[in-house]
Amino acid sequence: KQILVIHGPNLNMLGSREPQTYGTQSLADIDAALVQAARAHNAGLQTLQSNHEGQIVDAIQQARGAFDALIINPAGYTHTSVAIRDAIAMLEIPVIEIHLSNIYKREPFRHRSMITDVATGQICGFGHHGYLLALQAALQMIKA
Ligand code: DQA
Repeated sequence: KQILVIHGPNLNMLGSREPQTYGTQSLADIDAALVQAARAHNAGLQTLQSNHEGQIVDAIQQARGAFDALIINPAGYTHTSVAIRDAIAMLEIPVIEIHLSNIYKREPFRHRSMITDVATGQICGFGHHGYLLALQAALQMIKA
């Protein structure tokens, strides 16, 4: 089984980016933990970070037929991107939306996600641990 993890804009700055909100773990730390946890379940895991909406759309399109589940933190695009939403809606695999912070506890503009109603489920508010919860959910959905 193969799992794709997509990290959206500004998540390359994790660790130094508003650590009180997003924690002190770097994206490399998170990715390494995910790869290791997937391997323990005999699953493959690829990660991609992009600051560009179109590149994220391309990656989601290319996931069709190539991956068994998608874990995505669309970051700022969560609240704005019809294009990422439409790309996800085309997928026929489990999609887990994840956010480090609890978006419902923050500014009102973060309360609306364009993604949630085309995703299988959403995890938010558990910091970097949320990624491991998302992986667990993905593995369960695909019975890996
Ligand atoms: C985020 C929440 C978004 O509102 C924000 O724009 C981000 C990160 C999170 O992981 O908590 O960049 O997706």
